Amino acid sequence: MELIIAPAAQLAILAADRFEAVLRAKPRAVLGLATGSSPLPTYDELARRHREGGLSFAQATGFTLDEYVGIDLDHPERYRNVIAREITDRVQWPAGQVSGPDGSAADLTAAAAAYETAIRDAGGVDLQILGIGSNGHIAFNEPLSALTSRTRSVPLTEQTRRDNARFFGGNLDLVPTLCLTQGLGTIMEAREIVLVATGAGKAEAIAQLVEGPISASWPATVLQMHPNTTVLVDKAAAAGLTRHRP
Ligand code: F6R
Repeated sequence: MELIIAPAAQLAILAADRFEAVLRAKPRAVLGLATGSSPLPTYDELARRHREGGLSFAQATGFTLDEYVGIDLDHPERYRNVIAREITDRVQWPAGQVSGPDGSAADLTAAAAAYETAIRDAGGVDLQILGIGSNGHIAFNEPLSALTSRTRSVPLTEQTRRDNARFFGGNLDLVPTLCLTQGLGTIMEAREIVLVATGAGKAEAIAQLVEGPISASWPATVLQMHPNTTVLVDKAAAAGLTRHRP
């Protein structure tokens, strides 16, 4: 695992550099997308490169990490809508080439299996961008998720719902309680992973991710076993590290 500590604005450039390198080498690349606030500056930078540098997503395929269950189809915080707004539409990525787990499916088990099949049929993810929850989750693999888990429905913890209430006008009651998420085993199959974290609220999770023991108590620690992961953090998110000094 490679760790880079840099100012927040620079992290987005470094993450966008990885997307650009993968896309230029392989225009038909399969890209793994995250929602939440951490990837937004990277998406801004990719949109700029598309606009000003002709970076093309026209042949790429995209897969999002997760989706709320029980959210209105046209809700602005439904992850499929977030991804369209924040990245897909801005880089003229054909909408049919970007998909997410179907949180609106009547049969969530079948939807989860179908999503695994779709990723596999596309050839697997070449580059996955991740954020990390303050409790160490990646995608919505909450603490005590099996380290080999696959796409499945998962109840959201109270802490994650509180963290995400800011996207729902601060109203915890409006935050869904269930989601469909790629598993840790699914994410681990991505050929390259870039995780971005900023701010003091991520310091404990980053300390565990980089220096802690591999444990389902801090699900992101499974990435210690991934052969090609870069962790991009600002100074505040790096503050809990004892062996790596900013
Ligand atoms: C989002 C996701 C989550 C977030 C995490 C951090 O698709 O899978 O794991 O990456 O909750 O969220 P932010 O970036 O908003 O702090």
